[in-house]
Amino acid sequence: MEPKLNTYLHDAQPRQLAELQEWLRIPSISTLSAHKGDVHRAAEWLVTNMRQAGLENITLIDTDTQPMVYADWLHAGSDRPTVLIYGHFDVQPVDPLNLWHTPPFEPTVRGDDLFARGASDDKGQTFIHVKAVEALLQTTGKLPVNVKFIIEGEEESGSGAINRYVPAHADQLAADAVLISDTHILSPDQPAILYGLRGMWRAQITVTGASHDLHSGSYGGAIHNANQALAEILAALHDSTGRVTVPGFYDDVRVLSADERASLARVPYGDKEILADSGAPAVYGEPEYTVVERTGARPTLEINGMWGGFIEEGFKTVIPSQAFAKISCRLVPNQDPARIGKLVTDYLKQLAPPTVRVDVQKSHDGAFAFLTPYDTPAIQAAGRAYTQVFGTEPIFTLEGGGIPVVNVFQKELGAPIVLMGFGLPDDNLHAPNEKFHIPNFYNGIRTSIAFLQEMAKL
Ligand code: BES
Ligand code: MN
Ligand code: MN
Repeated sequence: MEPKLNTYLHDAQPRQLAELQEWLRIPSISTLSAHKGDVHRAAEWLVTNMRQAGLENITLIDTDTQPMVYADWLHAGSDRPTVLIYGHFDVQPVDPLNLWHTPPFEPTVRGDDLFARGASDDKGQTFIHVKAVEALLQTTGKLPVNVKFIIEGEEESGSGAINRYVPAHADQLAADAVLISDTHILSPDQPAILYGLRGMWRAQITVTGASHDLHSGSYGGAIHNANQALAEILAALHDSTGRVTVPGFYDDVRVLSADERASLARVPYGDKEILADSGAPAVYGEPEYTVVERTGARPTLEINGMWGGFIEEGFKTVIPSQAFAKISCRLVPNQDPARIGKLVTDYLKQLAPPTVRVDVQKSHDGAFAFLTPYDTPAIQAAGRAYTQVFGTEPIFTLEGGGIPVVNVFQKELGAPIVLMGFGLPDDNLHAPNEKFHIPNFYNGIRTSIAFLQEMAKL
């Protein structure tokens, strides 16, 4: 790296970290309506920061739901490629709050980590690219490629607005590659590029028995308890090996080739690592697949929440009339979320005994899984950028999480999608004590710069 830029990046570190902390103080939780104003403030903060960074055409795009921010710098020349950078500034809720060691919206440095909600997912990773562009503009006055940013505030609640915006503004967003940092690498010295993400379908289940809560002495044994009926239904959704029992669930799942299995077997992540990261006493799931395959290439059905009846202090001998669960399915390529939704809904109705009523309310349309070939020039350029900064070639692997808009980018822009993450597997995404490994933040800025420079050579 050029000495002037190198010195700049070194000296800028405290300011870059302080700015990220300022952004993290805004509780931009998109799934809670009470935080709508905060999501907007997070967008406004980004607009101001992008202006200081030297970006142009910065626009806060208000929508029916949550805002987005667009910005660009398009003076590299029309012979140079254009990179579209995507990220999100909305975050997940923070409960259970009592398990946080420091408050989620008071970003705190402990050792090499910055703790805060959104530190890794995804303000920290998004900010990497704003600071990379700023560093280049402030030291050289230009960028090696044309750059566009589209940063949304609704990823954690389904990306509805951006999913509609992209098809309607395909010209504005046209690019030769889409760069996304919203995933993780394997360790601080083992970068990883994802070539697939899982899709999603989710719903709330309501089980209703009696028309109102009943005294369990007077009615117990004669009227079906809604909590019990829900537990019986949910327990029937998996067999003893962890396979989903919904008829037809696996019909469209692609069979992994021997080559792909061999390649995934080289990923240095297995039972030992997942047990250490999760703190669970044993691994779970389909025995014929490795944990990388189970989380990357196999579909699942998860019970995200269940409630009903009396849970306050003391005891209350009651037969609850209603019980609830929130479930979600992680989908793999070729599984259609609408079809899976119908299969699951039909099966839940079929499992319902005549003693209760079962309602299934889907949350949105769901998302298809994502898969991309990784021998494309843009992804290989990302590989070289990682190698320059981390000193190790990236591993190509699959991930279980989802980023709904990637399929829309793939379909509408026809550009290769580069999933270049800087999080770590133990960043506690969506959980208490979310953190971002600070060396990954600074190395991320260098890698982003290296990627733009590598793209310019294509
Ligand atoms: N950044 C994550 C997705 C992710 C997590 C990718 C871990 C790779 C590794 C993203 O913010 C996320 O949480 N997505 C949601 C999507 C859902 C709310 C529609 C998810 O996967 O649950
Ligand atoms: Mn994310
Ligand atoms: Mn997330």
